[in-house]
Amino acid sequence: MRIAFAISAIVVLAACAAAPTEPVASMAAPAAAPAPKALEITEASFGCIRDMTAVRGFYVSNLLGNIDATVAAANAGEGAKYPVGSVVQLVPGEAMVKHPAGYDAATNDWEFFELDVKPGQPTKIRVRGTTQVVNQFGGNCLSCHAPAVKYDMVCEQTHGCLPIPITPVMSRAIQKTDPRCAPTALADDEKAALAQLMAMLGAARPAAGQ
Ligand code: HEC
Repeated sequence: MRIAFAISAIVVLAACAAAPTEPVASMAAPAAAPAPKALEITEASFGCIRDMTAVRGFYVSNLLGNIDATVAAANAGEGAKYPVGSVVQLVPGEAMVKHPAGYDAATNDWEFFELDVKPGQPTKIRVRGTTQVVNQFGGNCLSCHAPAVKYDMVCEQTHGCLPIPITPVMSRAIQKTDPRCAPTALADDEKAALAQLMAMLGAARPAAGQ
């Protein structure tokens, strides 16, 4: 790391030293401002939800290391603007990640993800994208989240989104049973919420045999 930094510092210094001898023509046509670097998001970008930073009922992280700005946005209330690289998750199987400005105006530059999480296996991205992404129940992410545009599309319970049938205790129980994390004990109300959720999912998907 240190060596790489030293080398890049030398290259920069060398480039600066060379600058005065650059042809004058380059001054006539100044390079356009560099486009914001695209954010690369892979399956390795996701892991145990409880390794992220808890904010009220959900979790955040930042793929570029800018976690303080992400947490500040999560605490900003109305007018919140999450910085590039922000990852937001309520449950292990769904995530939204903030791209540089210009990625997609319709989603406020968020990309939506449906993730497959299984014990002992790396996270798999099942679906990703912007306006077209639907969750496993056929609900379009953006349609539900768009009413929370003043909160940068983050719903929580009071930002005007279309509701989900998952209570805060259920969310907590799902977070605690993320199969990628070390096991942790469930409180009694969380156990009950999980049983209720399983019954709900079973009733919702009889045809799928699950
Ligand atoms: C039926 C409406 C609906 C659909 C469809 C939906 N969401 Fe949400 N989502 C919500 C609501 C409401 C909350 C807040 C729940 C809470 O805090 O208890 C939420 C919470 C979240 C959160 C936590 C941050 C926040 O906004 O509070 C993320 C991340 C998220 N959803 C991503 C997604 C992704 C990705 C999809 C699509 C794959 C999706 N959602 C589909 C309504 C929906």
